Amino acid sequence: MGHAEWPISERSPVIETGAPARGGSPFPPLLLVGGGRMGSALLAGWRDRGLSQAIVIDPSEEAANLVAPGIEVFALPHEIPTGFTPEAVVFAVKPQSALAVLPSYARFAGGAVFISIMAGKTLHAVGQMLGVKAAIVRAMPNTPAAVRQGITVAVAGCHVSNSQHLLADSLLAATGQIAWVNDESLLDPVTAISGGGPAYVFLLAELLEQAGLAQGLPADLARDLARQTIIGSGALLAASTEDAANLRIAVTSPNGTTERALAVLRADDAWPKLVSQAIDAATKRSRELQD
Ligand SMILES: NC(=O)c1ccc[n+]([C@@H]2O[C@H](COP(=O)([O-])OP(=O)(O)OC[C@H]3O[C@@H](n4cnc5c(N)ncnc54)[C@H](OP(=O)(O)O)[C@@H]3O)[C@@H](O)[C@H]2O)c1
Repeated sequence: MGHAEWPISERSPVIETGAPARGGSPFPPLLLVGGGRMGSALLAGWRDRGLSQAIVIDPSEEAANLVAPGIEVFALPHEIPTGFTPEAVVFAVKPQSALAVLPSYARFAGGAVFISIMAGKTLHAVGQMLGVKAAIVRAMPNTPAAVRQGITVAVAGCHVSNSQHLLADSLLAATGQIAWVNDESLLDPVTAISGGGPAYVFLLAELLEQAGLAQGLPADLARDLARQTIIGSGALLAASTEDAANLRIAVTSPNGTTERALAVLRADDAWPKLVSQAIDAATKRSRELQD
């Protein structure tokens, strides 16, 4: 993780919070607020790693599907059983719900670390909703977290203790890689690149499929070729020590078909310029959404 300013997960994949024994669970009791796409992906990762007790707050009907041994789901925060004291409270609700949702959880500020994955909600903004002394981690995961292939970038607020930092690291690392930064403003380009990145890759899959159809391939074959090319290329990238550029060069025979296609994509710097402009636009939008 070249950009990690504090890559705890590389040093300490297992948390050491000094907390009491947890009956074999690597995690203390957790509270997850919002069990939608990202919340349920995180929960799946924690359960895979042996999470034994959590409460999920989510009013949607689908949230009932998250019930499992040790996992309870309630619609509203006042249903949380008295005496339940989470060491981590994870906010995975939409940013626009934050002001209505977060203050109900301020009562856990004494002992818990709050982990917010809400896009655009700064440490300062979340702190105003939970109390200025609250221990807050802001993180930006991405949807491959659902298959433990995500990447998360996180920044810790000034009230986060070392043990809370380790706990947050361990929780976020359960769904893929994690990098820590000290400069919160870096979360804007992070949002643009890895937060939204899966959408750009899926667009490429769509475009390859459409181009295959246009060249007369049967629909099923066009779809399979597009999907498996992306899946296989990702796996090759993951398995290789080579740079992406070298892997690209290895596919590109001089004066061959791939070279011809790449010449079109790079004519007048077309693709490089477009990708750069797209990331710039997303980074600016992330800054605009910030409060
Ligand atoms: N999806 C991504 O790629 C991605 C990447 C990085 C970060 N994030 C962040 O992750 C957060 C969640 O995104 P998502 O894509 O998982 O959204 P989502 O699928 O809509 O999940 C949000 C969940 O919160 C529930 N909810 C609504 N009001 C609630 C309340 N008062 N208390 C508890 N739960 C409540 C929603 O229920 P209803 O459906 O009934 O409203 C929904 O199940 C967002 O802040 C987003 O910025 C998402």
